[in-house]
Amino acid sequence: MNILIINGSPRETGRTTQVTREIHKSYQSSFLDLSQLSLPIFTGEPHQYETEEVQELIKKIEKGDGILLATPEYHGAMSGALKNAFDFLNSAYFAHKPVALLAVSGGGKGGINALNNLRTVTRALYANVLSKQLVLDPADILEKGTLRKNAADGIHELVNELTMYTQVSKQILEAKQNV
Ligand SMILES: Cc1cc2nc3c(=O)[nH]c(=O)nc-3n(C[C@H](O)[C@H](O)[C@H](O)COP(=O)(O)O)c2cc1C
Repeated sequence: MNILIINGSPRETGRTTQVTREIHKSYQSSFLDLSQLSLPIFTGEPHQYETEEVQELIKKIEKGDGILLATPEYHGAMSGALKNAFDFLNSAYFAHKPVALLAVSGGGKGGINALNNLRTVTRALYANVLSKQLVLDPADILEKGTLRKNAADGIHELVNELTMYTQVSKQILEAKQNV
C-alpha cells in the first residue's frame, strides 16, 4: 500500500513544506513536493504533458493508493500551485482514492476556507475525501516543521484514518478486479 503525501506549498521555506517533510520522514510514504516541482501554468496544450515535471506529477499520483493533501491557506483558498497541479489531472487519477486534507494557516482561525475549497475541488475529481481533517497554526509548529504534541497527535490520527480507508479501498478494488 502506497500513501502519497503532497506538499501544496510553492514556498521552499514555507511552513507547509517544513511540516510535510517531517510527516514524510515519520511515516512510510511517498512524497510529491510542489515547492520542488516547477510545473508549467496549465494551458491544456498536449506538449505540456510531455514535460518531465508533468510526467512526474502524473506518475506519483497514479502510484498513490491513498493521498494526504496539504495546502497552505492563501487568501482563503488552497495555493495556486496546488490548484494548477490539479488542472493537469482528472477523475481517472482520483476516483475511489481515499484523500485526507490538511491546511496550514497563518493563524487567527484561518485554514477552514482552504479545507473547504480543497474538499470541493477534490470531490469534483471524484476522490473519496475523508470527513476527518486538520488545520495547523503557526503555534502548532516548532522549529523546522516539528510539531507540538497535540498537533502531532492530530496528524497521527489523520494518517491512521487515511491508512485504514486506503486498506479497505484496496481490498474492494482488488476483489472487484477478480470477479
Ligand atoms: C499569498 C498569501 C496569502 C495568505 N493568505 C492567508 C489567509 O487567507 N489565511 C491565513 O490564515 N493565512 C494566510 N497566509 C499565511 C499562510 O497561510 C502562512 O504563511 C502559513 O504558514 C502557510 O503558508 P506557507 O506554507 O507558505 O508558510 C497567506 C500567505 C500568503 C503568502
